[in-house]
Amino acid sequence: MTDVSQQVRAALRQQLKTDRLLGLQSAPMQMPAAVTGGVVADTAQRSADALDNGERLRVLDESSVQGCTKCGLSEGRTQTVFGQGSATARLVFVGEAPGFEEDRQGKAFVGRAGQLLTKMIVAMGLSREEVFICNVLKCRPPGNRDPHADEILACSSYLREQLSIIDPEVLVALGSPAAKTLLNTAQSIGKLRGRFHDYFLSGETGVGKSIPLMPTYHPAYLLRSPSEKSKTWEDLQMVMARLGLKVKRA
Ligand code: URA
Repeated sequence: MTDVSQQVRAALRQQLKTDRLLGLQSAPMQMPAAVTGGVVADTAQRSADALDNGERLRVLDESSVQGCTKCGLSEGRTQTVFGQGSATARLVFVGEAPGFEEDRQGKAFVGRAGQLLTKMIVAMGLSREEVFICNVLKCRPPGNRDPHADEILACSSYLREQLSIIDPEVLVALGSPAAKTLLNTAQSIGKLRGRFHDYFLSGETGVGKSIPLMPTYHPAYLLRSPSEKSKTWEDLQMVMARLGLKVKRA
């Protein structure tokens, strides 16, 4: 019978290989404290899922999103912004749409708002590589104007597909357009934030599997209104508790 530590090493080697394939060289690699058959199986399963999910996300991006011309935003974009992070993330952040810097770099939340989002993620004890970060729209609206309803509709299947592939335990909607779109509601972000709602993967309220969703303020709004940061931190603490992460009091 194979020695357990050999199995752990093999599973970790496999995870490293998977992480490298997904461009996650810096993903945290932790030797399990308790070396059990269950841990070996979990690690191997996570590796297999990561490969599978990563491949499915790559196909969605390369075969559908990158060449999309479903709405007029395709004419003005430099490139599409699919989103990035772990293909097996337990937590996904969904923003509104790429801005200037995101359109230039092809990555979600890499401008000033993105820097604040990074701080929020790190304050939760996580890293950007461990979560997944994306937007409702995959193309930048001109002058960063609000997304139009027809653009949201055209793009909605991509987000739904991303979320069903990743199948996270919790979603965070950043700002009003993301929260209203995902929850199919006209309620203000001030009313929605502070408690979990159900996001239905089917796109129809009450139908099929749902994922708990916490709406909170958009980091760009927090840059303009820093006094609201404490409310967002309260929301994120609820997310941490839901994920079983150690909650830190301010
Ligand atoms: N604002 C967003 O909603 N998304 C980004 O990617 C950047 C800024």
